[in-house]
Amino acid sequence: MITISSSSSLSLGKLIAEKLGSRSSEVARKRFPDGELYVRIDTDLADETAVLVGNTRTDQDFMETLLLLEAAQGRHPDRIIVVIPYFGYARQHMRYRAGEPISSYAIGRAILDYADSIYCVEIHDERAMAPFNGKIHNIKISSTLADFVAKWKVDYVISPDDGGKDRADSVARIVGCESMALDKKRIDDTNVEIVNPDLELKGKRAVLVDDIISTGGTIMKASQMLVKNGLSWVSVAAIHGLFINQSAEKISGSVSEVAVSNTIETPYSKIDVSGAITDRIQEEIK
Ligand code: R5P
Repeated sequence: MITISSSSSLSLGKLIAEKLGSRSSEVARKRFPDGELYVRIDTDLADETAVLVGNTRTDQDFMETLLLLEAAQGRHPDRIIVVIPYFGYARQHMRYRAGEPISSYAIGRAILDYADSIYCVEIHDERAMAPFNGKIHNIKISSTLADFVAKWKVDYVISPDDGGKDRADSVARIVGCESMALDKKRIDDTNVEIVNPDLELKGKRAVLVDDIISTGGTIMKASQMLVKNGLSWVSVAAIHGLFINQSAEKISGSVSEVAVSNTIETPYSKIDVSGAITDRIQEEIK
């Protein structure tokens, strides 16, 4: 087995390779003068299982993943497993208006043209996986989150919206505390409204758990409201830290600690998901 890491997942790819006991392939990369990307896989993959770890967060990430896949296929591996720690473009998993693309479908199709299967971590909406007949596997990391959060000794695990309620419930069950979901309405791309839960939280400790921190608007609004309701301590544990417009720094100013996983490599990536990923891959290749 050989692991190949794209530049968006170099540290996570290394951890995955160590846990799988696989070799890591050397990859040469450069930019042509016109800006186009060049990659080369310098390891023979013939008759091997190739595990390619790469995000689709940005257009550049996606392009590198695609080029690495084409390069990998040219080396005739036995099979190709793609790990997409953060499946970007999964928020557009349907045509909300005529004329829009189903972006997650476009990404999945392009990757599965080369790969036998895809493993992703907590995809934003599992409906994005529906057209792919079980070839995309979603790895839920509630227990990894719970193991991390347990040391904070919280009274509540809180989801800022209803979509994350099941995750908050699972984390709370493992930690052994209460859970709840707030009622959030998105006003536009950067602004949200959250209904005050009208709950007395005086002296309580809580963690806000969410799948994505993008502009940070959701977490800022939720944490400020909960503190107004009396919370004495609040921290954030999220899965994918996109942190647009320095939102991590802004959030850090209003909560005690910010932690995200290493699906996207950031200075706040304190929650390691490599074990959760390799457990699932090892199940497939057994
Ligand atoms: C929304 O459905 C997600 O679960 C997150 O709450 C959202 O993506 C966070 O975005 P932002 O940080 O921009 O408020």
